[in-house]
Amino acid sequence: MKIGIPKELTSGEKRIATPPDAIKKLVNMGAEVFVQAGAGEGASISDTELVESGAKILEDASAIYKTADIILKVQRPTVNKADGIDEMSMLREDTILIGMLSPHFNKPQVEEYARKGVVAISMEFIPRISRAQSMDALSSQSNIAGYKAVIEAASIFGRIFPMMMTAAGTVTPAKVLVLGAGVAGLQSIATAKRLGASVSAFDVRPAVKEQVESLGAKFVQVENIGGDNAETSGGYAREMSDEYKERQREVLYNCIKTQDICITTAQIPGQKAPILIDREMVHEMKSGSVIIDLAMETGGNCELSESDKVIDINGVKVVGYQNWPALVPKDTSSLYGRNLVNLMSLIVDSESGSLSIDWDDEIIKGALLTRNGSVVNQLLREMES
Ligand SMILES: NC(=O)c1ccc[n+]([C@@H]2O[C@H](COP(=O)([O-])OP(=O)(O)OC[C@H]3O[C@@H](n4cnc5c(N)ncnc54)[C@H](O)[C@@H]3O)[C@@H](O)[C@H]2O)c1
Repeated sequence: MKIGIPKELTSGEKRIATPPDAIKKLVNMGAEVFVQAGAGEGASISDTELVESGAKILEDASAIYKTADIILKVQRPTVNKADGIDEMSMLREDTILIGMLSPHFNKPQVEEYARKGVVAISMEFIPRISRAQSMDALSSQSNIAGYKAVIEAASIFGRIFPMMMTAAGTVTPAKVLVLGAGVAGLQSIATAKRLGASVSAFDVRPAVKEQVESLGAKFVQVENIGGDNAETSGGYAREMSDEYKERQREVLYNCIKTQDICITTAQIPGQKAPILIDREMVHEMKSGSVIIDLAMETGGNCELSESDKVIDINGVKVVGYQNWPALVPKDTSSLYGRNLVNLMSLIVDSESGSLSIDWDDEIIKGALLTRNGSVVNQLLREMES
């Protein structure tokens, strides 16, 4: 079993799919691991450390793609315009490609994997079931993104977060509003609370009210008069009716005026992120406030966010970074590497050290995109029909 780890080409991506601790585990499973020189640089991991963990270093991406039967990646294969490296052209028939392949938004590329005879497995599609928790890359990466969002807000905000009672007088706590209380949002709430802020949060799914309150934050309620079903059977949010959206806007419009920081994390799988903060709402915010848009990868929750920029609207800073996990690459790589190793242990026979894939396993079925020259994923097929 030959596993290849190319250097990530996507602009701003600093993570490596398998840092040294993950490589050690793959080698212990019986794999030969080939890593492209410099693949760990962004996460401050040297080639020497990679070699010490058992990897063999190959100079360029083409050598990795030629040698490996399994390619482990963070981001989907792409083209590096600067030196013309095209990962898609290097993918060989029967290669197993595992990564955050963003299939919802890159259907033509998924079809291309099928045409090339690649077996593509998408980490975003690992089912959210208990048995797969250790492989849940969406959660491992969102969790750290939620933390980093608050730290970034705190460093941009011109005031402190906690209440301070001093001899010179009292400083009131910063007010933080978190929109979307999934994995990232709940971590943002917890982090902002730890820093001493007064935190409130909103989500369309009423089920999260209890989780928000258990973290010591206030849940912002939007009355669901029409009785819209906000949650899919898989626990994800649905797009709400126009009537609900109108009420939601009214509540948020009034709430946001009083806030210092707003962290937005709202997403609907496979769709563009909902706009929760429009131009008028940004203009209503106090000068010095900060908006952190964690949903930029799918278009952003704030109408004014600009990709990978911090913009200033009448003193309100709007932060629109695309790739929050890449801002903390060592820890996110470490957790992502463990997610991959746990998935690999499902598809490698521990006795022989060779691949043994149960194609009917619920986890494999959920995450598998292409096999035997076809797009086989149920979710993607449903999207088409
Ligand atoms: N292994 C597991 O069982 C497991 C692991 C992680 C997450 N989950 C569940 O998966 C679900 C999704 O979690 P996620 O963090 O990946 O979500 P996500 O990234 O898809 O979305 C983030 C949050 O945005 C919310 N949202 C969507 N539209 C909104 C709107 N218009 N206004 C306000 N909020 C909006 C969603 O309800 C969600 O809480 C949750 O139910 C979570 O508990 C299960």
